[in-house]
Amino acid sequence: MDKNHLNGLLRPKSVAIVGASSTPGKIGYSVINNLIEGKYQGKIYPINPNATEILGLKVYPDVGSVPGEIDAAIITVPAKFVIEVADECGKKGVKGLIVITSGFSEIGRKDLEAELVKTANKYGTRVLGPNIVGTLSNSDHFNGSFAPGLPLPGKASLISQSGALLIALDAATYTRKVGFDKLVSIGNMSDVDFADIIDFLEDDKDTYCISLYIEGLKDGRRFIESARRAKKPVIALKSGISAHGAAAAASHTGSLAGATKIYGAAFKQAGVIQAADLNDLFNRTLTLSLQPAMKGDNMLILTNGGGVGVLATDSAEKYGIPLKFAPEELQTEMKKHMPEFGSAKNPVDLTGMAGNDWYYESVKYALTDKWVDGLVVLYCETAITNPTEIAIAMKKAIDDAGVKEKPVTISFVGGEKSDAAIAWLVENGIPAFNAPDLAVNAIATLREYAKIHEDGAAAEFVPNEKARKASLEIIAKARADGRNALTEIEAKQVFSVYGLPVTSTSLAKTEDEAVNLAKKVGFPVVMKIVSPEILHKSEAGGVKVNVKDEAAVREAFTTILKNAKAYNANANIHGIAVQEMAPWGTEVILGSTTDPTFGPTVMFGLGGIFVEVLKDVTFRVTPVSEDQADEMLSEIRGAPIIAGARGESPRDRKALTETIVAYSNMILELKDEVAESDANPVLVYEAGKGLKVVDARIILTKK
Ligand code: ACO
Repeated sequence: MDKNHLNGLLRPKSVAIVGASSTPGKIGYSVINNLIEGKYQGKIYPINPNATEILGLKVYPDVGSVPGEIDAAIITVPAKFVIEVADECGKKGVKGLIVITSGFSEIGRKDLEAELVKTANKYGTRVLGPNIVGTLSNSDHFNGSFAPGLPLPGKASLISQSGALLIALDAATYTRKVGFDKLVSIGNMSDVDFADIIDFLEDDKDTYCISLYIEGLKDGRRFIESARRAKKPVIALKSGISAHGAAAAASHTGSLAGATKIYGAAFKQAGVIQAADLNDLFNRTLTLSLQPAMKGDNMLILTNGGGVGVLATDSAEKYGIPLKFAPEELQTEMKKHMPEFGSAKNPVDLTGMAGNDWYYESVKYALTDKWVDGLVVLYCETAITNPTEIAIAMKKAIDDAGVKEKPVTISFVGGEKSDAAIAWLVENGIPAFNAPDLAVNAIATLREYAKIHEDGAAAEFVPNEKARKASLEIIAKARADGRNALTEIEAKQVFSVYGLPVTSTSLAKTEDEAVNLAKKVGFPVVMKIVSPEILHKSEAGGVKVNVKDEAAVREAFTTILKNAKAYNANANIHGIAVQEMAPWGTEVILGSTTDPTFGPTVMFGLGGIFVEVLKDVTFRVTPVSEDQADEMLSEIRGAPIIAGARGESPRDRKALTETIVAYSNMILELKDEVAESDANPVLVYEAGKGLKVVDARIILTKK
């Protein structure tokens, strides 16, 4: 990434406004007004062929006439003039264009947008937008936008794909007391996209937390790489989570995939915290920008009210950091700051009598105690205490404890006085909320953030040239036959060369061949129709299981052929597959689909009713590491079945994770050929006994 150009774009030292106007109400006027009102210290060059002065600034007829260098050009001329302006800017050596103008790909003018990027990039100029509000930076006093003013100063930076939302949030920063340093409107993302700006903000000393509002990414894989590289917290709110691409899907996996699941998986793999809604985005951005990560699971809750203490305890469980009893020594120390009838377990109940001193002493001690990893302090407004004084005592205790590496979040429940105390705490750098649940959610977010960095390394793709070559030959043969799907036998051959354990399967063209193969495999066997036109074999009466002897093989052969012809008289029948009958095991499904944003993805779930009815499946973007595969096994609702529920012995987790990793490598390596696939069912045996892929399907990409 060209940091110099992005720096010029987002933190310019000089800026031209092409389409500057002296007419109040026009965007070309607002931008200049905003730059002046924001107290921008850099050079401002208004450009307009028909004006001489706007808001006291000298106006230039074109970019080429400007005497000095221009870092960024804010473009506010109608779309039909933008290409010409971009060319002039390129010639002038402008580093970046902030293209506010609408009328490009968002209304179907992809051609005009492509021309804009091509024209600018020819000179090395980067394009932000088009169709944006602009970009704002508090630390540079730079309001290069038509949003009304710079946001409340703070330590987070927001990238928003919606311009209108950015303007609304800009104003909301003041009422919600959540400060931002930079607000970047990203619009159509014709050139500069989320990944570029995340890379830029990662190096920005004024940004401590990167906050995103995403409608849809263009290059999902690049996003994952940038977010994963970031050593700062990244939090995202994703909108537009209705299913996509599912309708056209030919396989199980395709119909089970959808934007929500795939984005959720990608965020996990990218180490991005996912916000539930706008309020959540604000609350958690505030927390992540103000407090350090919580490095262990030991959370201590201090409260003056049992009720909020219990509510916070419930929330702790809900957010995955259940409370533990405080150790004896900590309890002994806490007992010193409460009446006889208080409780020092956890939550530590200082009782309604708790005033400034008890809060001060207990907060200060708790932070220095080695058992405590994070602290949640709760306060219910009482008649005998003053909320702001309590807040001041808490803040002083935090400062005096001098422990910078442990997070604190606070909740005040009460009326106006409590609201004032909350505002005071936030202004003084401590995330404070009006409900215990929010304070616990905040600390849980800091724990989640720490865990992201405890996670193992990113998955690595391991090429397998031999398997690739063998698979491509099988695929080429199918394509030569004019097919877009492999037969089960072919699909199993591909799975097998990539190391997936499949049931042995051979093709019989005649009854005698079927008998010989069955004898070789060993009775009982399974027999299945092999026809590219019959993908749903059971439905066609094309499957016989538990075929026990020679006579049964002959009978099954005739019946299957008869059924298949009745099902589809025109089906091209290759023969009948005779295969090993695997012993019963826990049924699971593995699948793959090609997501339009993230490319090849892998699915795992329990088979049978779990997948058909409950859709209890989970996804990852390939490649998948063993740790990620193991996570997949734990995050489905049916996880206890894999772990060994109701007296059943645990299933072979190791074999299953290794198979997911091998499968992920396979579909990534064959991404140009395989559109969708599944292994369904896969029978998983008890620990140490492995698994078997019993049926396999591969659907090819359209060429
Ligand atoms: N160089 C310099 N100045 C020029 C040039 C040029 N090549 N060509 C025209 N101008 C001047 C015009 O003379 C005019 O100045 P004037 O007021 O002195 O006459 C000025 O540029 C602006 O041109 P207008 O034709 O008056 O265009 P107008 O201001 O009406 O609209 C705009 C331009 C705002 C870019 C419009 O085309 C547009 O795209 N609007 C939508 C913008 C938007 O909403 N973006 C964000 C989307 S996100 C969200 O939803 C909030």
